[in-house]
Amino acid sequence: MHEHFTKDSPGYKAWLAYHAPGNEALRKKEAARYGWIASSGSDETAKAAAAELIAGIGSMLGAEPSVLENGLPENGIILGTFQENGRIRDICGDAADKLNAEGFVLRTSGGVTAIGAHSSVGVLYGAFHLLRLIALGRGSSGLDMIENPANGLRMVNQWDNIDGSIERGYAGQSIFYRDDEISYSPDRIRDYARMLASVGLSAIAINNVNVHRLETKFVTGEYLPQIAELASIFRVYGVKLYLSINFASPIEVGGLETADPLEPEVRRWWRERAADIYEAIPDFGGFLVKADSENRPGPFTYDRNHADGANMLAEALEPYGGLVIWRCFVYNCKQDWRDRSTDRARAAYDHFMPLDGAFKDNVILQIKNGPMDFQVREPVSPLLGAMKRTNQLLEFQITQEYTGQQRHLCYLVPQWKTVLDFETYALGDSSPVKRVVDGSVFGRRYGGFAAVSNIGDDMNWTGHPLAQANLYGYGRLAWNPELTSEGIAEEWAAQAVGSDEAAVGLICSMLMESLGIYEAYTAPLGVGWMVNPNHHYGPNVDGYEYDKWGTYHFADRDGIGVDRTVKTGTGYSSQYLGENAAIYESLDRCPDELLLFFHHVPYTHILKSGKTVIQHIYDTHFAGAERAAALAGTWETLRGRIDERIYVQAEARLRGQAEHAKEWRDIINTYFYRKSGIADEQGRTIY
Ligand code: GCU
Repeated sequence: MHEHFTKDSPGYKAWLAYHAPGNEALRKKEAARYGWIASSGSDETAKAAAAELIAGIGSMLGAEPSVLENGLPENGIILGTFQENGRIRDICGDAADKLNAEGFVLRTSGGVTAIGAHSSVGVLYGAFHLLRLIALGRGSSGLDMIENPANGLRMVNQWDNIDGSIERGYAGQSIFYRDDEISYSPDRIRDYARMLASVGLSAIAINNVNVHRLETKFVTGEYLPQIAELASIFRVYGVKLYLSINFASPIEVGGLETADPLEPEVRRWWRERAADIYEAIPDFGGFLVKADSENRPGPFTYDRNHADGANMLAEALEPYGGLVIWRCFVYNCKQDWRDRSTDRARAAYDHFMPLDGAFKDNVILQIKNGPMDFQVREPVSPLLGAMKRTNQLLEFQITQEYTGQQRHLCYLVPQWKTVLDFETYALGDSSPVKRVVDGSVFGRRYGGFAAVSNIGDDMNWTGHPLAQANLYGYGRLAWNPELTSEGIAEEWAAQAVGSDEAAVGLICSMLMESLGIYEAYTAPLGVGWMVNPNHHYGPNVDGYEYDKWGTYHFADRDGIGVDRTVKTGTGYSSQYLGENAAIYESLDRCPDELLLFFHHVPYTHILKSGKTVIQHIYDTHFAGAERAAALAGTWETLRGRIDERIYVQAEARLRGQAEHAKEWRDIINTYFYRKSGIADEQGRTIY
């Protein structure tokens, strides 16, 4: 069974801690404003919204709002759907016409604050938003806002296994499974659902994309009753449940001889599974599929393509409105260094672009943000925006596989913003990634965000307490990609850490600097991959250079980088549209931070910054390690100003990061000094 946890464990409440504001006068004023709550909704979601408001307001304002059937004229909150509640309809007026099914209106009229929506889940999102505003001290003035989620799909992927482990998990064991069983604390699952809903996340795939033996049976009667129970917890918070499936299930659990997607008995087998699943879970979301990827089975075995595979599953789910989310992380994982034409970066595009338009309407392709694999710096996947007739879902990785594994501080929101704002030129010059994936550029029905979650059963959910900001930020961006990295950092810190404004400010500055710092002391100039193979933690410049899972930087005594140009390299740069192709192709125009991703250059090549490549490597690594030490120093100034237990959790990690950054610095610097034979201009210590 799971370890005992209490809601008072440090960090457990995350950004739903509902701290009392520091300003006593404001608190009193606010408490009076929210004297009662009237909720017209009778379903569980509406009840959850009202309960959250009561708990949150109670905790923040010390007020106990009375629960009324019908609101009074002054000083309270009235919430519900327009359909059910005429008063809300009147207060919200034509704002209702501007809402989609999940959006909400928050409007004050006299002393009454109305939360109105077309659906209970919209009301729930509105309730969480009002609580956020109160927590940030912005809940008092006349509210008048309309919010719709920018993306239809706002999903997390759990890479949890039934044995309790989490692939690429850095915050303990699974909250869903233990010892080869589905085993969980319903309270904890509910709190996770609350956290997801509070930032607008609305879908979850509850098992690893690498679907092992027992998990393959999740689509059968053996596990469905238990999975249906999980689904019912998430349902209250508007979160739809999805399952990762094994493409070879018809063989592995169905006893068939083939999983060929064009074989009628295979199609029938999947149709029967869909019928069973929807019987148990009427609002089941659909399947998430990793096929023909990293040795997982798929349609290639039968000489079929990805569209054949995905469409077969889509056909089975279609009668119930289910979706197939098919991952594009397909590449040759045994690339040979002698073969300079095979390029992992090209793979997703090469596999999927020819299939544009071949997928059924309820298939969505899930595309990693970059062409490789969640490195600290990669260009944006050229597949995003390239396919005009295919639904696309952008995949991020919240769990910090290559970005310090929640031992290092690395606030990923700025990285995601770079991706979202990237202009694809898919349709003129107003088609940034965020508009491609929300479906608007090509008028697609489905689109949105998916991301690998970073939570486990650690009491504070994410191991590093500040890593909560990544989950929080992911959800907020999926709802509204226009939010800024700074704004999100501030929101998170103020809600999770409390009301000492100066402390919140310092934490935000640490978050904002952290990605740049991590990038500085790890792999330089976009080249990536200088990590230990398998577990991916810590420096190992040649780890993948000499591995059978070859992923190369091609550093030798003369230079470094991967030539991905059309002229002399793999031709990857041509997968981009418009200006982007020309920019990346050109040694002069390619931005410094991606130079080694696209070009192989001598160590003496001069960057736009005016430095040589080798001097850049030395300078960033010395500075990066110093800046990591400074992060730990900044944190020390927070002692006594924030919850001591959270202080201690992060202190240990920040100190460890500072030490580890030195190791990165020394290994990288020594490697390149020995390779290049060029000394540091400043004569600093290089071993
Ligand atoms: C990475 C990661 C794997 C994961 C894979 C995926 O390669 O290291 O653990 O399975 O991505 O996204 O499928």
